[in-house]
Amino acid sequence: MPFPTDRPRRLRQRDSIRALVRETSLAPSQFILPLFVTFGQGKKETIRSMPDVFRYSVDMLAPAVEEALSVGIRSVMLFGIPETKDEEATQALNQDGPVPQAVRFLKGRFPELVVMTDVCIDEYTSHGHCGFIKGERIDNDSTLECLARMALVHAEAGADVVAPSDMMDGRVGAIRKLLDSKGWTDTLILSYAVKYASAFYGPFRDAMMSGPQFGDRSSYQMDPANRSEAFREARMDIEEGADILMVKPALPYLDIIRDLKDRFDLPLCAYQVSGEYATLMAAGMQGWIDTDRAFMESLVSIRRAGASMIISYFSVRAARLLAQDR
Ligand code: PBG
Repeated sequence: MPFPTDRPRRLRQRDSIRALVRETSLAPSQFILPLFVTFGQGKKETIRSMPDVFRYSVDMLAPAVEEALSVGIRSVMLFGIPETKDEEATQALNQDGPVPQAVRFLKGRFPELVVMTDVCIDEYTSHGHCGFIKGERIDNDSTLECLARMALVHAEAGADVVAPSDMMDGRVGAIRKLLDSKGWTDTLILSYAVKYASAFYGPFRDAMMSGPQFGDRSSYQMDPANRSEAFREARMDIEEGADILMVKPALPYLDIIRDLKDRFDLPLCAYQVSGEYATLMAAGMQGWIDTDRAFMESLVSIRRAGASMIISYFSVRAARLLAQDR
């Protein structure tokens, strides 16, 4: 039926009507709050390129998590900053490193909190790469055992979910196999299945002091131009035992989120990464954009594309805005 009988605007007359016909929901329980955990004590350090985001020592974490819980966020993703780095990422396997310590502390204090851990050695290697170096190359297979052992250390500390972000081939299988052989059959694997070699990770490397000391990550992270390859990566990770798939970054890759949603039946996670956060925050601080609205629009777009959960540095503020809306 054509205009003038058909008038889509009828459904947009009032907020209460718009709310009735809204197709996509956002809720605090869909957010995962990333937390940077550093060594030492009494630390809450600012990060130049990430306003309102901090590096915490374990003893300083509780207020941040309490704040998140109070607005309805129920999951966190931990990233560790070790005291020392070396070629072999020795500290990645330290049971008393910042991440295992934080996991034990958080699970003890907030048993219902879903605690996820990033499994990757780039923050632990002196060269800053996500795999071991052999000659001039980033070596795949020798890295797998380390990743699996790192995931086991996190599981033993009590992590509910381990999330490999390294993009080595075969790591999901290696992790699942080791976890299962040690009885950790209920520990979930959230695989960064589709992770692109992105400029949008810039501020994160600033936060973690973890950029590669030579070369870049293009020999293991995906080419932003590729789409079919995402299916292949996702399929492999599913076959190897992933429970949840991730696409990262989020906003520049909404098409990929939708592709995976249509093609696979695993729950999908999207990571609104540090550069997505920093650009919106920076534009807002200049007065060039309405930060809150821009974030809420981005987050609902990511959900609309097909993600059931979103990792975002804006989680707490977004949850607050949602509460105000009611
Ligand atoms: C690797 C890792 C990175 C991010 C999450 N895990 C950095 C990278 O691959 O270079 C980026 C997250 C962000 O930018 O917010 N351990």
